[in-house]
Amino acid sequence: MSGQRVCVEDFEKEAKKVLPKAVYDYYRSGADEQNTLADNVAAFKRYRLLPQTLYIISCIHLIISFLTSPLILPLYCVGSTGIDFMRYPDGGQATGRSCRAVGTGMMLSSWATSTIEEVMSAMTASPGGVLWLQLYIYKDRELTLSLVHRAEEAGYKAIFVTVDTPYLGRRWDDMRNRFKLPSHLSMSNFSSASLAFSEGNYGNDSGLAVYVAKAIDPTLCWDDITWLKKHTHLPVIVKGVLNGEDAVQAVNYGVDGILVSNHGARQLDGVPATLDVLEEVVKAVQGRCDVYLDGGVRRGTDVLKALALGAKAVFIGRPVLWGLACQGQQGVTEVLELIKEELRLAMALSGCRSVSEVSRSLVRRLEFTSRM
Ligand code: LAC
Repeated sequence: MSGQRVCVEDFEKEAKKVLPKAVYDYYRSGADEQNTLADNVAAFKRYRLLPQTLYIISCIHLIISFLTSPLILPLYCVGSTGIDFMRYPDGGQATGRSCRAVGTGMMLSSWATSTIEEVMSAMTASPGGVLWLQLYIYKDRELTLSLVHRAEEAGYKAIFVTVDTPYLGRRWDDMRNRFKLPSHLSMSNFSSASLAFSEGNYGNDSGLAVYVAKAIDPTLCWDDITWLKKHTHLPVIVKGVLNGEDAVQAVNYGVDGILVSNHGARQLDGVPATLDVLEEVVKAVQGRCDVYLDGGVRRGTDVLKALALGAKAVFIGRPVLWGLACQGQQGVTEVLELIKEELRLAMALSGCRSVSEVSRSLVRRLEFTSRM
């Protein structure tokens, strides 16, 4: 670990210096006024930890079993950050190798700049890698299923289907920058240039918003979950649930897991922070499937708070991108190790020797936040 980088924010500061402005803006931005973007992070500060003292803490176990795979961190990356590797074109492979080394899994975006197969072969170069595929449902259903089947064949362990993006949120910086991919990159999983987002007429808008309007199916409904499940033997997790009612629907439609997510606050500004709705979702689900969370996770104590509120695991997105921008694979490994060590310490100081000892009584929500 570099002596200079002691927290995720240090990685972000450094990444900002080395990334082209439009790339940094794309990664960092939330939608509209970015109220939810700030709130995702602030929500973690609204919860306080209530440690138990005088426990014998000689060893901390982080191992959990997740979607049939035992992993040594209840923290999963990359929380599907599409078009993710603009400084390191083979960043998908680098990130995969880091995840494997640290003992965690990786959710690859279907919009990654590395292919499904490339990342899997980097992950499995030595044993231990676990990959899941994030999926957008395209208007072209054959194309959508071809991604699913490629993931199955390559050995991915689950499909995370994004349900919050019938259209792309308004990200002001991307609109001002007329965001599109640098010419040497494309969404590698697609063979046609227009679907790979490497050419096309994107007008004066965010190019990605134009791409989504053209390609992604805005008519998605719950029956499409049934359709997807019919076409794959992999577990299906819905990514983008923010309330108990939708969580119950998801369970009724037979999903294998729910990812409480507001898409990194990049879609609808003004929705709640994910941590603030986590417990509602957990209660609604009543143990019928796993519940995960992403959004605003920046350090080990955040992971611990999410686990205490009922998440089985959390995903991180931007911190991994900052690590990758700073120093490629080494940078990602540093970020993951940092959060892992922070989590280990937070558990030790809280009197939790294993993830199974992390309970709801560990956290209390502050009633008044005005002076924070
Ligand atoms: C985004 C896509 C990649 O939020 O999920 O930009």
